[in-house]
Amino acid sequence: MIKLIDVKKKFRAAGLENVSFELPHHGLCILYGKSGSGKTTILNLLASLDKPDDGEVIMDDYTVTYMMQTDMLFHNLTVKENLLIKLNATTVPEGHFECEMLNLCVLLGIESLLDERISVISGGEKQRVAFARTLLGDFQLLLLDEPTSELDAHNKMVIMKYLKSLSQEKLVIIASHDNEIKCFADQVIIMKDGQVNE
Ligand SMILES: Nc1ncnc2c1ncn2[C@@H]1O[C@H](COP(=O)(O)OP(=O)(O)O)[C@@H](O)[C@H]1O
Ligand SMILES: [Mg+2]
Repeated sequence: MIKLIDVKKKFRAAGLENVSFELPHHGLCILYGKSGSGKTTILNLLASLDKPDDGEVIMDDYTVTYMMQTDMLFHNLTVKENLLIKLNATTVPEGHFECEMLNLCVLLGIESLLDERISVISGGEKQRVAFARTLLGDFQLLLLDEPTSELDAHNKMVIMKYLKSLSQEKLVIIASHDNEIKCFADQVIIMKDGQVNE
């Protein structure tokens, strides 16, 4: 469960203004809104990377995994090395982890890229690697910032169907302005100018 009560976060001119909403223990929620509407600010609060200036963020004690808006990959390392970094941050045994890693890479069509450096792959490929790295290991809350911005229609569907199935047991929160993925959501929170638009 997540509950935001009258959350305020001020930046010089913009920020969040009295944002309140509640999310259940699992399901797929889309924070939908134009660029600058406050989506990333909310994800940063939910990831405990930032604190509200006023109001409350009440959350269950989730293990969180967060795919940020910029890919955050190590560009001089290979795809495989970037994925294996997650092994240190999980309790999943190594054999099981490698199996999960290969399955995800096959699903995302990046298995032939495992030995390539990030610096030589395309934007859409980077986004799928970042997605795979975010999903490896254990978590109960998945935060994704604009995860489909670089994807073609096929990969977008693959990823959204996968997230939909994960959301049967986990809470998946996606910040996006992509109209095509709204149909997958159990709940859409529309953001406008730092406020929830009701
Ligand atoms: N660290 C920051 N310093 C100053 N302004 C910020 C900062 N983070 C966000 N903002 C401003 O807050 C508003 C909301 O930003 P953001 O949450 O990134 O929007 P979105 O993710 O919906 O595009 C924007 O106007 C942005 O410029
Ligand atoms: Mg953003």
